[in-house]
Amino acid sequence: MKRRSLLSIGAFGLLAGWALRPSDLGQPHAPYFAALNQLLRREGRGIPLLVIDLARLDQNAERLAEQLGSQLPLRLVAKSLATTGLLEYLAKKLGTQRFMVFHQPQINQLALNFPRSDLLLGKPLPSAAALSFYQQLPQGSGFVPAEQLTWLIDSQTRLQEYAALANALDQPLQIAFEIDIGLARGGFATAAELAAALTWLRNTPNRLRVRGLMGYDAHLAHTPAWVDQDNAFAQSAARYQAFIASAAAFSELWPAQPLLNGAGSLTYTLHTRLATPLNEVAVGSALLKPSDFDSPLLDGLQAALWIASPVLKALPGQLPFLASAQPLMQRWDRNRQQAYYLYGGQWPATPVSPAGLSYDRLYGRSANQERLIGSHNTGLQVDDWVFLHPHRSEGLFELFNQLVLLRNGRLVGSWAAHGRA
Ligand SMILES: Cc1ncc(COP(=O)(O)O)c(C=O)c1O
Repeated sequence: MKRRSLLSIGAFGLLAGWALRPSDLGQPHAPYFAALNQLLRREGRGIPLLVIDLARLDQNAERLAEQLGSQLPLRLVAKSLATTGLLEYLAKKLGTQRFMVFHQPQINQLALNFPRSDLLLGKPLPSAAALSFYQQLPQGSGFVPAEQLTWLIDSQTRLQEYAALANALDQPLQIAFEIDIGLARGGFATAAELAAALTWLRNTPNRLRVRGLMGYDAHLAHTPAWVDQDNAFAQSAARYQAFIASAAAFSELWPAQPLLNGAGSLTYTLHTRLATPLNEVAVGSALLKPSDFDSPLLDGLQAALWIASPVLKALPGQLPFLASAQPLMQRWDRNRQQAYYLYGGQWPATPVSPAGLSYDRLYGRSANQERLIGSHNTGLQVDDWVFLHPHRSEGLFELFNQLVLLRNGRLVGSWAAHGRA
């Protein structure tokens, strides 16, 4: 090939590479975060914070209450709102004492902190964990497990184990059956299997009291493109109805007002819009709306939870061993111009403000000083704050000592991240 053609191909390649370079995504903090940055520069005390925006939380709670109306009572999902201060606040605001629980120590904590509550397990626990609950419940706590706590039973074996536990404890135990309405996460797979369990209960002396059913339908929020969501909903609702019909035939065991629980943050709106077999829904995460819940199904709700961390160092975005390639790399991708080191890191969260920050895949992550990269346009300085949107609230609170409460541009208090505020 002639030299001239080679040169033109090379020049064309360079031009095409240049034309394809990433745009500069950097922007200063938007007004909401600019105000929060100023506030935390004054009052943030310089360590990473988990911030709840109470005004936004209130709006989410009001929207949820409006959507549910009086038809679908709410059960708060405790694992997604896992601190007593927040649960107390929401229980009061939303007028509910129903909680869904997933972890034995948390059952004990809720029983103490909410002596009038109604607790339903969201997953089946080993009977050894259930036994620990009774052993750890103080005498005279005011909480009456036989009336206020419902264990979840997902199989015939577990049913027998809980029957044995009730005998050993010499007290009645309330149970609900986990049913598989399409999520494929276990539970009774068919109405016939459930009928077999109820037949065993009818024929065996026991101290178990049936309260109802729990059928979780998270899969409906993730229907693939070729599946019609409303149709999929109708099918899982029909499966739920079949379980109800099967259980109701055992009139001596099945209560007149059974508990029919289901749904979650991503699916409760389907139950408000379409014919549902449920008489209550379990919702937690939607109230804080972490980023895993950015779904068209939750369009009316706003993110109300942030991780805020101060910038320790603002440096040119150098990388070790690549000094000579650096100028070209930074010219090609302006989002590599600066490196910002945060106080702490490796949180399950995405940087959201200032816009245009990202983790540096070439450098790696750090729980001690997280490195973010961005362009000069972010305008960040040492001691400014960066805001990250957590992916989920579950499991997050234990990474922080407290939840800092923000309302209309002011810090108005805190809740202990574990237990009582
Ligand atoms: C049984 C059950 N119900 C409801 C939920 C919904 O919780 P959230 O509203 O926090 O997504 C979950 C979440 O895992 C669950 O396992």
